[in-house]
Amino acid sequence: MTTTTADSDLPAICRVNQLPAHVGSTVTVQGWLNNRRSSGKLLFLQLRDGSGTVQAVLYKGAVEDSQFKELDALPQESSLEIVGEVKEDARSPGGVELSVTAVRVVGLAEPYPITKGVDTDSTAFLMDHRHLWLRSSRQAATLRIRSRVIKAIRDFFDSDGFTCVDGPIFTPAACEGTSTLFEVDYFGDPAYLTQSSQLYAEAAAMALGKVYTFGPTFRAEKSKTRRHLTEFWMVEPEVAFARLDDVMDLAENFLVSIISETIGDCRADLELLDRDCDKLLKMVRPFPRISYDEAVEMLNDNGHPFEWGNDFGAPDEEVLTKLFDKPLLVHRFPAQVKAFYMKRDPDDDRVALCVDVLAPEGYGEIIGGSERADDLQFLLDQIKAHDLPQEAFEWYLDLRRYGTVPHGGFGLGLERMVAWLCGTHHIRECIPFPRMLHRIYP
Ligand code: 4AD
Ligand code: MG
Repeated sequence: MTTTTADSDLPAICRVNQLPAHVGSTVTVQGWLNNRRSSGKLLFLQLRDGSGTVQAVLYKGAVEDSQFKELDALPQESSLEIVGEVKEDARSPGGVELSVTAVRVVGLAEPYPITKGVDTDSTAFLMDHRHLWLRSSRQAATLRIRSRVIKAIRDFFDSDGFTCVDGPIFTPAACEGTSTLFEVDYFGDPAYLTQSSQLYAEAAAMALGKVYTFGPTFRAEKSKTRRHLTEFWMVEPEVAFARLDDVMDLAENFLVSIISETIGDCRADLELLDRDCDKLLKMVRPFPRISYDEAVEMLNDNGHPFEWGNDFGAPDEEVLTKLFDKPLLVHRFPAQVKAFYMKRDPDDDRVALCVDVLAPEGYGEIIGGSERADDLQFLLDQIKAHDLPQEAFEWYLDLRRYGTVPHGGFGLGLERMVAWLCGTHHIRECIPFPRMLHRIYP
């Protein structure tokens, strides 16, 4: 229980998920009215405080008649402080209920828009009310899982000798191709919102050995798919002296760790989302690894014609991932469909030493990574070939001038990871306030 009190004369505040530890005590619970029903003499107030919901039982006579009447008509989402005794109740979800002795209405709500009767099934309506929709149990569960995934990500790297460095959000040039850049006016000159912190992570890796960046990332993607946001969070580890195989090992260990850590703490939330945790826990190492060449062959062998040299789209990824029940690592894509900074395979100059991790169940690419080109002249040629401004990359080229080493890393899209873990169809529910092609409100 916290030692703070709502008002000095109220018992100590207790969050709903802590109530089972306080059976027999009288506590204050602060929250919002989720639901209410009454049987004349008894009023059941379902209170939600973000950690859970509890049923508060109020007997007529426990409070003034006028207040009982007011509470019996209280609109959903009104905010409340309820004082009551915590009682064991096997039928309740948390195993406890509150026997109410006093109630204070903190904020009386207007009629709540997200309620039965209005077309709340329409996603556009819910998206327009995203600020209120967050209060729904599935949305709140998703945000708690997202928060836990962030911690799992940080814990994984922090406990393995990585230093967290932050990349800038204003950048002078493209990292992942010029077609998805958001341009902003930087005191009269063009600048771009970051598409990836990778190039900065590479610089930091040459100073610190093993680093990761974790922050907002922007893509002016004109894609209206269930996997694309224009603003999302990406975590990008980068490791000096790492080769492609090391990058793939790191990605595997990382994913397994996120899954087990998150399920360890969020099983109830995942089950609320109807996610089968045991199925997720089967995602153990090793994950299947195939080359792009093998993937193309598999596509064609499975009645899905695909030409060598193209990048995979969602339908191609879906066919491939259906052939496996774990995340699939596809390596060595044609260099022509990948970024300028990737190292070529010395055994086959047409392909890059890169890897995409495709999640099962149609969630598609969650990780993209590679070994980086470490040769100065090769990079100079690539910058020219990709029509990129060399001046903007001089600092990056310096990394090859002063003690170049093999190195590599990857980027994981946080929301795509959360969508897969939660089994959420559309990525927009996996970030508190999504930004998409046609959405910047609220
Ligand atoms: O494959 P991408 O473009 O790779 C990079 O940006 C590299 N520089 C990363 C690196 O090696 N350090 O993006 C990496 C991941 C994707 O696999 C996907 O999970 C996510 O970022 N992502 C998106 N997530 C949501 N909406 C979008 N529009 C996304 N674009 C990429
Ligand atoms: Mg990619």
